Formats: sequence, C-alpha cells, structure tokens
Amino acid sequence: MAAEHPAYPVGLRLTGRRVVVLGGGQVAQRRLPALIAAGADIHLVSPTATPSVEAMADGGELTWSRRPYADGDLAEAWYALIATGDRTANEAASAEAERHRVWCVRSDDADAATAWTPATGRSEGVTVAVLTTDAAGRDPRHTAAVRDAIVEGLRDGTLVAPHHRTRTTGVSLVGGGPGDPDLITVRGRRLLAEADVVIADRLGPRDLLDELPPHVEVIDAAKIPYGRYMAQEAINNALVEHAKQGKAVVRLKGGDPYVFGRGMEEALALEAEGIPYTVVPGISSSISVPGAAGIPVTHRGVAHEFTVVSGHVAPDDERSLVDWPALAKLRGTLVVLMGVDKIGRIAETLIAHGRSAQTPVALVQEGTTAAQRRVDATLETVEEAVRTHEVRPPAVIVVGDVVTVGPQHTV
Ligand SMILES: C[S@@+](CC[C@H](N)C(=O)[O-])C[C@H]1O[C@@H](n2cnc3c(N)ncnc32)[C@H](O)[C@@H]1O
Repeated sequence: MAAEHPAYPVGLRLTGRRVVVLGGGQVAQRRLPALIAAGADIHLVSPTATPSVEAMADGGELTWSRRPYADGDLAEAWYALIATGDRTANEAASAEAERHRVWCVRSDDADAATAWTPATGRSEGVTVAVLTTDAAGRDPRHTAAVRDAIVEGLRDGTLVAPHHRTRTTGVSLVGGGPGDPDLITVRGRRLLAEADVVIADRLGPRDLLDELPPHVEVIDAAKIPYGRYMAQEAINNALVEHAKQGKAVVRLKGGDPYVFGRGMEEALALEAEGIPYTVVPGISSSISVPGAAGIPVTHRGVAHEFTVVSGHVAPDDERSLVDWPALAKLRGTLVVLMGVDKIGRIAETLIAHGRSAQTPVALVQEGTTAAQRRVDATLETVEEAVRTHEVRPPAVIVVGDVVTVGPQHTV
C-alpha cells in the first residue's frame, strides 16, 4: 500500500457478514467484542485461544476451528483480522486476502495491511474513530489519546457544538457521589454541564458548582425559604416551578439519590405534576467513604454481609424503624449514616443485645474530601472518642471486624 496517501475512513456494516479472524491471542481478544457487537458472523481459525476468546466461542458468539490457518480460509470473507503469532502464516493470509479482495488488518505489519483499525469510542449515539494519516506515522498511543479526549469531551458535554446541544429538559435527580468531584458519574457530569438551574445539597461534590458557567442559577437547597411548607416540600416546589419554566434543572444530591436521599419523594412530586424526570445513580457514601479510609465493607473470611442503617433517631425513639436488637445479632459489617449524635445510644443498644463491646468501630468524617479524617474506637469507647476527637457530621460510622483488616488502621 502506498504510504503517502491517507487511509480512507469508512464504517463497515458487518451484520450477518462473514468475518475471519486468524489467531486467538491478545489481539483477537481485544478486537472481537466490537466485531461481535457489530453482529458479524465470526469465524476464528486458531489452534489455541485465550480463556476470554474461548468463552466467546463457548457462548456461541463465534465459531472456532481449532487448527492453523490454511489457504482458502478467507475465500468467503468480507473482512479479515490477521493476528497469528506466525509471520509466514500472516503473510500467506495477507496474500490470500489480496487475491480475494478481502480487506484485512494485520497485527504484525500495519504497512502490509489493506485496512487499519481505528481507536474507537462511543458516546450518546456517536462513534468516534481516530486514524493516523499514514502507516509510517502510526502511533497507537497518540490516536488513543485523541480518541479519549474527544469521547471525554462528548461525555461531559464540553465538546458539543452549542447549536447541537441536546438539553435534557425537565429535572435530573443526580447522585453526585460522596464529595470528591471526580466521583460523580459521567452522565451526571454531562447533565450538570447542560443545566440552566442546579439545586444542590450541602453534601456532595460542591467543587463541581465552581465549574458551572455564570448563566447557570445555583440554588442552595438548604436556603430555599419554606414558609408554611416542610423544607422538602419547598424543594419539590422549586423543582416543579423551574421545570415548568422550560429550564433544564439538575437536583444535585450527595451520594446516591435513593440512599437516605429523599430521591423518590422528589420523583413522586415531579410525577404528580407530569414533569419529565430522570434519576442518575451516584456512588453512595455508605460504601465509598469507608473505602476511602481503607475499610472494605466486606472482606473474605471476615464479613459476608453489610447493612446500611440510618442513625438519625436513637434506638429507643418510637419513630425508629430499625430493629437494633436484630442488628446486634448479625456478624457482618454495620454502616451507620447520620449517626454521630446518637452513636452512644446505638453502641449501648448493640452491646446490650449481644454484640461484643470490643467490636472495632471507625468514624470517617468528610470522606473523599481534602478534610477527610478517621477516628478509630470500639463499641465501648466510641461515644468518648467522638467527644475527645470532636467528630462532626457528615461522618460514616463502620462497626465490625472489617475496620481492622486494612494496612493503615490507626487507633
Ligand atoms: C442524608 S444522608 C445522604 C446519604 C447519601 N444519599 C449517600 O448515598 O451517601 C447524609 C449522611 O451521609 C453520610 N455522608 C455523606 N457524605 C459523606 C462524606 N463525604 N463523608 C462522611 N459521611 C458522609 C453522613 O452519614 C451523612 O450524615
């Protein structure tokens, strides 16, 4: 192939069309998922295959002839991937592809190939494919980096031309994760970039609000005046009101909207008003904050379960829906949210109903943020530890042996 001419980019529609793959190693393993996704009729010819490729054959995603390449294998193919470890076989297959006018890519010699695989990525119905201009200048790392930059830009909304911007109207209830701005989902970040109005909680990734353009109205949920309404009703009303003005509204919440986040209350209020809404899951502090402090909520041989519970009302409070005596009998991990104020009563109740007073406890305050800190104690000493170390909300409290399995646990 003449190296001075650029490659001609094209999208192959391979559904039901025969594609022959020679070699079942790492190259095939990387390329096969996209060929399968394209609906190609894939025939693998290879004496061996990696376990992943073998699983694709076992799952009926391709047919596999367990033998080396033989002349004639490419006769009926529309497209071929030549990736055996045997250069002579690759050359022979290339020559056959040329004879039969089958486009082929080659893992060992891009210059000898009649096609190149671009670095690809997808976002919102667009496939991005990046090719270098000629074989001599091929640098896979560069093409991959350009692809990543484009896909990332499309995903977070920074790369869409303004007149093509497809705004999600209505309300997006977005889980913002525990606080670190990097821990919001890609979808959440994109919706935020498209918002006209953002109603945000104190918890969650506040830093992301700084990135919003000046025309975006940012409303602190805690400051919405509620007069004769409950605070939550006032937030619901604000969501409805702004959405009715045709604005794209993001309700940015800490963690996940449905974990002690009143997400469904807001969804029901929007549903009642006929306002379209979408819910974007978030990384809940109940798992991520312990993790950020080096505590896994489960660990092989230590805890086979974890229970997430709200400690905002004391165990003996008649409003409590938590069966604390039953929780005291569980062997696994207990993760308490909103429990700093009531931890003394909670610890007492757990001990009274059978959990050992020596059970390790960790309090992780402002997890995943620059202010994160961890205080370790036991059920017996935790109330005192909260006082001495002045632990303040927001904090996640972890009770159980998982607290001491990590390398950096400190008392
Ligand atoms: C109203 S709940 C909301 C939980 C949230 N929806 C979630 O999934 O993480 C608030 C509680 O979550 C916990 N929390 C949230 N973010 C936290 C963080 N960054 N560090 C420590 N605790 C956090 C605290 O227990 C806090 O009192």
